[in-house]
Amino acid sequence: MATFKTYPLIGLKDISFGYAPEETVLEGIDFNVFEGDRIHLKGPNGVGKTTLFYLILGLLRPKSGHVELFGQICQEEKDFFHARSRIGFLFQDPDHQLFCPTVLEDVCFGPMNHGMTKEEAIKRANEVLDSLGISHLAQRPPYQLSGGEKKLAALATILSMDPEILLLDEPFNGLDPKARQKTVRILEDFKGKALVIVSHYERMPRGLINKVAYLKRDGVLVQEAFSTGSSTKKVVPFPG
Ligand SMILES: Nc1ncnc2c1ncn2[C@@H]1O[C@H](COP(=O)(O)OP(=O)(O)O)[C@@H](O)[C@H]1O
Ligand SMILES: [Mg+2]
Repeated sequence: MATFKTYPLIGLKDISFGYAPEETVLEGIDFNVFEGDRIHLKGPNGVGKTTLFYLILGLLRPKSGHVELFGQICQEEKDFFHARSRIGFLFQDPDHQLFCPTVLEDVCFGPMNHGMTKEEAIKRANEVLDSLGISHLAQRPPYQLSGGEKKLAALATILSMDPEILLLDEPFNGLDPKARQKTVRILEDFKGKALVIVSHYERMPRGLINKVAYLKRDGVLVQEAFSTGSSTKKVVPFPG
């Protein structure tokens, strides 16, 4: 039987953050991602969903509170560096993710960084590109792709690294229904791994998520997904 870790894979503890000293974007945020959690993170435009992901990854540092990744408190770059390699992060803007001359090189980049040989990385990259239905884009430069194609190529760059957790910022933006369904199926197959999806879609497919988190400036409300009516269980209540 699988043994579950007692600590969250990702823990935000009383996090406050603002881009300018006098400004507050997030205040007193507690948010945990446990093994097996598959969370749809919702909230209005500009509430701080992307900022929350950047804080988890250590790309931004909180004004107060702290981040724990895989049971370790992370404060300095060296603390985040190792943990980051275990987390697959899809940027909201795929142009932030694609920087090589071709899509294939971009998808090989992570696996080779993790120690795969070039041949192993190409094999892995081709499998992932094939599963996403974009093998035909392998030799294309990223700037020649459409928005939806870029989104899939960016997703391929993180899936090729077989991360333990996926943090996906608007993964379905710009995808046509067929590409969207394909992506959903691939993410559903990403079994036994934790997943946080930021998406403006009101509902996610049933097989994809098991919790819904609502982000507000001063708290996150996490509920079981698909529970009905007034019996909806509040797993983590709003602070205060
Ligand atoms: N680099 C930045 N500098 C200043 N303000 C920013 C920056 N990035 C985002 N913001 C502001 O921070 C708030 C949260 O942004 P963001 O995390 O992108 O929201 P969401 O992803 O929920 O739409 C917004 O008001 C946004 O305008
Ligand atoms: Mg955003």
